[in-house]
Formats: sequence, C-alpha cells, structure tokens
Amino acid sequence: MVRKLKVMGAALFFVACGTAVPLHAQQSLSPPAVIPSDPGEYVARAGNCVACHSVPGGKAFTGGLKMMTPLGVIYTTNITPDPETGIGDYTLEDFDRAVRLGVAKDGHHLYPAMPYPSYAKLRPEDVKALYDYFMKSVPAVKQPDQPSDIPWPLNIRWPLAFWNLIFADDKPYADKPGHDATWNRGAYLVQGPGHCGACHTPRGPVFNEKALDESGIAFLAGGPLDNWSSPNLTQAVNTGLGRWSAADIAAYLKAGHNDHGTAFGSMIDVINNSTQYFTDADIAAIAAYLKSLPPAREPASVTAYTYDPATAAALHATPLTQAGAVTYVQRCESCHDSDGSGSAPYLPALAGNPAVLDNDPTSLINITLNGSARIVVAGMPDAYRMPQFRVTLTNQEIADAISFTRAAWGNKAGPVTADQVAAVRRETNPASDKIEILRMK
Ligand code: HEC
Ligand code: HEC
Ligand code: HEC
Repeated sequence: MVRKLKVMGAALFFVACGTAVPLHAQQSLSPPAVIPSDPGEYVARAGNCVACHSVPGGKAFTGGLKMMTPLGVIYTTNITPDPETGIGDYTLEDFDRAVRLGVAKDGHHLYPAMPYPSYAKLRPEDVKALYDYFMKSVPAVKQPDQPSDIPWPLNIRWPLAFWNLIFADDKPYADKPGHDATWNRGAYLVQGPGHCGACHTPRGPVFNEKALDESGIAFLAGGPLDNWSSPNLTQAVNTGLGRWSAADIAAYLKAGHNDHGTAFGSMIDVINNSTQYFTDADIAAIAAYLKSLPPAREPASVTAYTYDPATAAALHATPLTQAGAVTYVQRCESCHDSDGSGSAPYLPALAGNPAVLDNDPTSLINITLNGSARIVVAGMPDAYRMPQFRVTLTNQEIADAISFTRAAWGNKAGPVTADQVAAVRRETNPASDKIEILRMK
C-alpha cells in the first residue's frame, strides 16, 4: 500500500462494486470500539502511529509503508523495541527527541512526513506513557528499514535543521487562558497527538503547514490532499462544519457517519485506527474545540444552505432532458435518493453535504471514479459503500452527474468538466475491496 501526502499523486484507494441495494429499514450502528485502558496505548491510538508504521498484512509497527514526499519516496521505519532494527536502544530522551523534534537517535533529521511538528505538542506524561507502551507492550520484531529513494543531493538531511528552525516549535502544548478545560483538551488532541492539521491545514511551498494552531487563519481550513480535497473543519457554514452540531461531529469521529455525510478517502484510516478509540469525553472535547474555530475560506456574505424541493419534483417528471439528471437517476438515485437525502447515516445525503459543496470537486470526482474503502468500527465492516464508476461511466458522464448534484436540492457549487475528471482518473486507482484492519497486537 502506498500513502502519499499532500502535494503529490495517488494513494489509498477504493473499489466497490456494489449492487445498488437501497437501505430504507433503520439499522443500528455497530457497538463502539473498546477503549484502550493502557494510557500509552491510548496515546498511540490518538497519534495513529500504526497507520503509518505498518503495512496491511504485516506485523504492527514494523514500518515499510511507502510515502511520497515532495523530494521523493521514503519508507516508514521499524518502531518495535528490537534493539538492532527497531528502537529498542532508544532511551526516553532519544524517543522524545525523535517523536517531538524529528531527530533520530543517531542524529539524522527525519522528514516531516513523520508528523513531529504536531507531536512536538505532546505533554511529557503522554510521551512517557507512549514510550513505556512501545518498550513493554509492543513485541520486538527484527526487520531492517528500507532506505529512501530520494536521490542525491536532495537526500542530504541537514537542511531539515533549518526547516525546523523556521516551521517547527519544540514546546509541549500549554493550556490557553480564557478557555475551559474541555476546549484545551480538544485543542491539545487536535493539534498534538491527533495531528489533524497534517491533512486538514493547507501546506506552503516547502511542505510546511501554514498554521499549527487556531491563531493562524489557514488552520484546518482544508486544501488539496493527494487527489482528495481535505475538507474545511472551521465553522464555514456551507463548506465547513458550521451546520454540524457538536453531536454530529462526535458521531462522525466515533462511527464514520452522521446525517450530513459519511467518511471516505484517507479519513477512513483515521476513523478505523484512531478516533473510534477515543473516550466520549475526548470526542466531545474535540467537537467543542472545532465548534469554536471561526469560519475560514468562505465569504462572510454567503447564505447558508437550505433544501430546495424542486429537484426531486423534476426527477419524477418525464422525459428527463438534462444529461446529468439521466445518469443520476440511472446510477445514483437508488442509494442517494431523488431528494438527495440518501438513507442517513449509512447512505449519505448529497443535499447540503459539505463535501458536495466544496469549491474543489476533487474528492467528488475521486469517490465517483474509484468508490470508497470500508469503514470498520469495533471489527464490523460497513455493509454499504460507494461503488466505483471508473469502468461504467465516461469522463463526460461523471462530470455531468457530479455537476448535477452540485446544483440540485439547493446545493450551489460550480460545474465540473470532463477534463477535470480525466486528470483525476490518470492519477488514481480503484479503492481496494479488501477489508483492511491494522492490528496493534
Ligand atoms: C503520517 C505518517 C506517520 C505517523 C502518523 C507516525 N509516523 Fe513515525 N515516522 C514516519 C516516517 C515517514 C518516518 C521516517 C522519516 C524519515 O526517514 O526521515 C518516521 C520515523 C519515526 C521514528 C524514528 C525511527 C527511527 O528508525 O529512528 C520514530 C521513533 C517514530 N517515527 C515514532 C512514531 C510514533 C511513536 C508515532 C505515533 C505517535 C508515529 N511515529 C506516527 C511517519 C509517521
Ligand atoms: C490522513 C489525512 C487525515 C487526517 C490525519 C485527518 N483527516 Fe479528517 N478528513 C480527511 C479527508 C480526506 C476527509 C474527507 C472525507 C469526508 O469528508 O468524509 C476528512 C473529513 C473529515 C471530517 C468531515 C468533514 C466534512 O465536511 O465532511 C471531519 C469532521 C474530520 N475529517 C475531522 C478530523 C479530525 C478531528 C482529525 C484529527 C483527529 C482528522 N480529521 C484527521 C483526511 C484526514
Ligand atoms: C450502492 C449504493 C450507491 C450508489 C449506487 C451510489 N453511491 Fe455514492 N455513496 C454510497 C455510500 C455508501 C457512500 C458513503 C461512502 C462509503 O462509505 O462508501 C457514498 C458516498 C458518496 C459521496 C460522498 C459523500 C459522503 O459524505 O460520503 C458522493 C459525492 C457520492 N456518493 C456520489 C455518488 C454519485 C454521483 C453516484 C452515481 C454516479 C453514486 N454516489 C452512486 C453509496 C452509493
């Protein structure tokens, strides 16, 4: 499996040849995941170390995941406590320096594909718990690291020290006065272990996140992410979380679903391996913190989405003339419905969905071409997922169907061209239809 970060090409993908089975019967969500009782294992879940430092089917934390960086391909490393090939000879101080400051035991600087600029905010007690967990509870596995494929002279690592001076901060999170304990806990989890900004904050020209906390307006404002568009997590009313309640955010992070949408793309990794394991109190803290972020990347004059019944009425009339409407009725309506309401929370609504309203249609194109991987909560894979239309629909048909959904039911987002679909098609592959669970034990 290849994971690429921002800036570049294709990554985790999708399949799904689904038969369209509308789900109108109410189904209960699967029971929640068991929350780790070991505090270090909890921090490892919060930091989602397993998603990068493992490959599907491999042993946990032995590394080997291929990652694209702007400089070339690198591989994650073995962080099991094997003294020869892993981090068995790391002291707590060495571990702290690697995880928070991006410097390995032998002194070489890590590429910021390892999200140490976020982990820098980890509190000493959490670093200690994490260290104890890795040293005592993770089985040691002998597996040498794979060298990076970055060519000379770009593979020279000392310039990273200057990068760190400019873009990274080495201080653990300190509670901000004027905010309550819940807000501060949420801020800590989002900015520190959860490294949400690594995907949700737009990056600058040298791979730097444009802001590492809420003092910067670009913080969590969304942007291009490896053939997805990472959504805006600020309170922007249409393209952000402005219309999601704190309970909606909590449901999404715990189970991957709510009445507004369903997780897809690289967010599936985050829900499958990380946020489902958070305590309800921590999930509520994250939701409270996100609800406090002022709207970014949306004009203040924008009017909030309201449902328009005209589209559903038009779809029931014959003959249909609009090209996108015909494709929608034939290929999409059985799951997403003529009124765009789907059957939430399993089959997502497209009416008013922030992903559909996003100015950047890359995620919509990608999921329609390639389908979605599976959300797995408490070991139970989702029954429904988005099929791929890569083979059955042309670029023009996909462009028309997406343009139709972006202008239907009161949605007001711009049309998509066949060229835009062709560009994403070239860069991506169908989602895997395997149910991939990374085990930590
Ligand atoms: C987004 C992917 C990603 C996540 C999440 C991640 N890492 Fe890493 N990590 C990397 C990469 C890539 C490297 C190697 C960087 C390099 O070679 O420059 C690395 C390197 C390391 C190293 C240095 C290892 C060595 O061999 O010297 C340690 C220690 C480490 N990570 C620990 C962690 C821990 C603990 C977590 C969870 C809190 C974590 N990582 C989460 C990508 C990640
Ligand atoms: C590996 C990249 C990655 C990381 C890390 C990540 N996300 Fe996401 N996230 C995405 C992508 C891609 C989507 C788009 C999928 C979707 O809308 O369901 C998304 C969607 C979301 C959504 C739904 C927004 C919407 O408008 O539909 C929320 C809420 C969210 N993420 C919260 C978080 C939080 C909180 C964290 C940190 C704990 C986080 N994400 C970390 C990639 C990531
Ligand atoms: C078999 C049922 C099914 C059909 C048919 C279907 N979808 Fe989906 N779609 C889903 C499911 C389920 C998801 C949620 C992602 C997941 O879990 O796979 C989804 C997600 C989406 C999303 C992202 C919204 C979100 O919040 O997750 C868009 C956009 C979308 N579908 C558009 C379409 C279009 C356009 C068509 C027709 C070309 C279509 N879908 C046909 C089941 C379907």
